Amino acid sequence: MKFTRVQLLPLLAGTAVGSASYPPIPKDLTTPVQQRLAVKGTNAVAVAWNTYQKLDQPCVQYGIASSSLTSQACSSDSTTYPTSRTYSNVVTLTGLPPATTIYYKIVSTNSSVEHFFSPRVAGDKTPFAMNAIIDMGVYGADGYTIQGDMSKRDTIPHIDPSLNHTTIGRLAQTVDDYEFIIHPGDLAYADDWIEKPKNILDGKNAFEAILEQFYSQLAPISARKAYMASPGNHEAACQEIPFTTGLCPDGQKNFTDFMNRFGHTMPSAFASTSSNNTAKVNANKAQALAKPPFWYSFEYGMVHITMIDTETDFANAPDQPGGSAGLNSGPFGGANQQLDFLAADLASVDRTVTPWVIVGGHRPWYTTGTGQCKPCQAAFEPLLYKYGVDLAIFGHVHNSQRFLPVNNSVADPRGMNDPKAPMYIVAGGAGNIEGMSAVGANYSTNVFAYANDFSYAAITFQDSNHLKVDFIQSSTGAVLDSSVLYKSHTQQFLVQ
Ligand SMILES: *[C@@H]1O[C@H](CO)[C@@H](O)[C@H](O)[C@H]1NC(C)=O
Ligand SMILES: *[C@@H]1O[C@H](CO)[C@@H](O)[C@H](O)[C@H]1NC(C)=O
Ligand SMILES: *[C@@H]1O[C@H](CO)[C@@H](O)[C@H](O)[C@H]1NC(C)=O
Ligand SMILES: *[C@@H]1O[C@H](CO)[C@@H](O)[C@H](O)[C@H]1NC(C)=O
Ligand SMILES: *[C@@H]1O[C@H](CO)[C@@H](O)[C@H](O)[C@H]1NC(C)=O
Ligand SMILES: *[C@@H]1O[C@H](CO)[C@@H](O)[C@H](O)[C@H]1NC(C)=O
Repeated sequence: MKFTRVQLLPLLAGTAVGSASYPPIPKDLTTPVQQRLAVKGTNAVAVAWNTYQKLDQPCVQYGIASSSLTSQACSSDSTTYPTSRTYSNVVTLTGLPPATTIYYKIVSTNSSVEHFFSPRVAGDKTPFAMNAIIDMGVYGADGYTIQGDMSKRDTIPHIDPSLNHTTIGRLAQTVDDYEFIIHPGDLAYADDWIEKPKNILDGKNAFEAILEQFYSQLAPISARKAYMASPGNHEAACQEIPFTTGLCPDGQKNFTDFMNRFGHTMPSAFASTSSNNTAKVNANKAQALAKPPFWYSFEYGMVHITMIDTETDFANAPDQPGGSAGLNSGPFGGANQQLDFLAADLASVDRTVTPWVIVGGHRPWYTTGTGQCKPCQAAFEPLLYKYGVDLAIFGHVHNSQRFLPVNNSVADPRGMNDPKAPMYIVAGGAGNIEGMSAVGANYSTNVFAYANDFSYAAITFQDSNHLKVDFIQSSTGAVLDSSVLYKSHTQQFLVQ
């Protein structure tokens, strides 16, 4: 068939510009979309959302009854970057009463009243649960559930071909069972736009469209629960297929969208509530060295959670300029800033206030099969052991795995009964277009590994001495593996 010029132009426009699956732009440009909350500090929550126009003054009204939103907080924080259609708005609510249902309304001519449960203060010993969700990805036309190219998904046996994301569905159904979520990296998989042939001529729009879709899909969860994010390689990847490097849109490089979206919502580190002066000094030092959303910490009830950046900012970091992943990203801090932060942060933890210490990051060093990040192990493992981190949570490998408490690849002889070494898990099976990673060859300290369906980790702080880790099958809610870690936590400041 031969096209005249007149016929060809609309056709090209149809396959190129029209192909990215953008959500419709609301008529009212103040309409909040992609809402997301974060624990921002003691008694403080960051409320963030995007709009299709810049806001002069983003505002949030809030109160302890839906009919009486008596307080209002505003900011001038409404920012974007060259390839984005939306502006990221952030307002921080401070002085919140702890552990209380707070009603809030993002100020707009088209918004509704939502609610969240405000953060527990450090030292509150009430039991609660959180979820660890890693490597999740968008669903729908640019995600994993659409029929077509199934080549990367043939290890998933029972995926409903409808537009159904089982992990987000399960998080919605169980929303009253957990208080917040951590997501250490690989959020939308927007860089994987290249996986859908329809996107091939329209990288910039395809990339942004996936981000808009993903954060809209997440909003019913993240507008209700704090969603604590840290970076993964997919927040910076531009060359999964080498010839796309030249097509890589601005927002896709060097964690640009990730920084725009989470840079002003994640906390730095909390001031210490310990009575010990050394702890206060270390916490202040950690606060000065933190680089949210890359590395930071927060305290919630009986846990201190530290998020690390396994992508950049340490020796041989995979995503840094010249690094093994070829992503030419970062650095985001000064020389050794991340590791100095981590040492000060972990040293500041007073176990009489927060008995539990958890570290979350993207790339694991304990995993079955391939995907072990050896430079990460060299950089971080000695500090995790030295300061007695209880549990370390990673993803990157697309399945669920549990390891015995281990240091330097040697299982702690005490097992789950008051080990000195951290317990390690991989919770990277939440669901994304790349499909599951097969369970690799058995690894001596591995006790559980699952890649038959999408799954995630639910972590319950039972009391100061018992921590339960459950792996949940997203499609059914079934508990696939359950374990309880016992720690005596007898030392106020643990250094070993
Ligand atoms: C108002 O917001 C809803 C989503 O919350 C959207 O579907 C609708 O299109 C918006 N209305 C206008 C006039 O923009
Ligand atoms: C998604 O799955 C749930 C549970 O299986 C079902 O109730 C719901 O209708 C499905 N949604 C779509 C869009 O297929
Ligand atoms: C404060 O904590 C440090 C360890 O961080 C410890 O060496 C010191 O003895 C403690 N001081 C008091 C007064 O308990
Ligand atoms: C990435 O962004 C950071 C922070 O804006 C900047 O300091 C760094 O130089 C950038 N890296 C590259 C390779 O452009
Ligand atoms: C813990 O592992 C590190 C390597 O990551 C090693 O240097 C250190 O000696 C180990 N500590 C103990 C007590 O085994
Ligand atoms: C790995 O081997 C250990 C010891 O034989 C066993 O207990 C564990 O179940 C195995 N793990 C997997 C995932 O096969």
